[in-house]
Amino acid sequence: MIQVNHLTKRYAGRTAVDSISFEVEKGEIVGFLGPNGAGKSTTLRILTCFLSASEGTARVAGYDTYEDSIKVRQHVGYMPENVPLYPDMRVVEYLQFRARLKGLRYKEARRAVAEAMDICSLTEVDHKIIATLSKGYKQRVGLADALVNKPDLLILDEPTNGLDPNQIRQSRDLIKRLGERHTILISTHILSEVEMTCGRVVIIDKGNIKACDTPQNLIRRLRRPGEIMLEMQGDGEAAAKKIGKLEGVKSVKKTESGNQWVTLLIHTDPNIDAREDVFNLVTKSGWKIRELASRAASLEDAFVDIVQRPGELTKKEVADAGS
Ligand SMILES: Nc1ncnc2c1ncn2[C@@H]1O[C@H](COP(=O)(O)OP(=O)(O)O)[C@@H](O)[C@H]1O
Ligand SMILES: [Mg+2]
Repeated sequence: MIQVNHLTKRYAGRTAVDSISFEVEKGEIVGFLGPNGAGKSTTLRILTCFLSASEGTARVAGYDTYEDSIKVRQHVGYMPENVPLYPDMRVVEYLQFRARLKGLRYKEARRAVAEAMDICSLTEVDHKIIATLSKGYKQRVGLADALVNKPDLLILDEPTNGLDPNQIRQSRDLIKRLGERHTILISTHILSEVEMTCGRVVIIDKGNIKACDTPQNLIRRLRRPGEIMLEMQGDGEAAAKKIGKLEGVKSVKKTESGNQWVTLLIHTDPNIDAREDVFNLVTKSGWKIRELASRAASLEDAFVDIVQRPGELTKKEVADAGS
């Protein structure tokens, strides 16, 4: 659905996107992640033909974004970073207008607008003036606009920007549902949402692609020491000493204690699960356990690790990432 090949964009001598390559297959939901200024919006604008590349190519739905931009636009629904709307129009009028611009005939447009409003839960505000809507509703109008002509591909640039936690949770379900019909490339900072909705993520930093994989693989590859939390009743000092001698355990910290219960934070070598050994040791010593849990790494941990990792990737790693 998307093929990006050595794409470069320079603004007045400043390189925003530096020879990036990646692909998105039909039916995928791909998260496009990176810190502010990484080059996400620039890339998405090139994919949607709002900008031209300095070098390299981008193909969408089989069409070149430069040579065949009209065809590309017919296949893409784009929700830009700051959703541009006509504030004086009513929701239904605006969407009708947009659908007609996208080439739908009058009756077709009415049906498509009703459907898009239904999907985006806008029906109850269909006759409100856009200027009077809350931020969450405005974002949904932008989304309804992007999907009104049922494009194969949706490109969403920070669609949850500025929404409250409740609205963010709702948008997660919405995006999952949209993923059943559309291929989606979505840029966002809400990594917990990405972990739940996206099959794959592309991480970009300073115009370079740093990773391109499933969230699960990125988390697995994270060479972060294991962390176990133990809450027990008994002699905390003695327990810390004994646990510290277990195989794979690097350090034990007593973090807090209150009414006879102590909490120990146990750091282990990466990919070692010492929970069973800890459990056996503590129970054999006659102490009681209230909680024993390993803290699972999240996509956020992987993201921070990847984006803060010093130095650039080797050529081979970049090639692997792009394939
Ligand atoms: N129109 C522009 N003119 C000059 N520089 C720009 C322009 N748009 C973006 N930039 C710069 O390009 C870099 C990438 O920006 P952008 O693609 O918006 O990043 P992101 O969306 O990942 O936050 C930033 O350093 C930004 O300041
Ligand atoms: Mg941006």
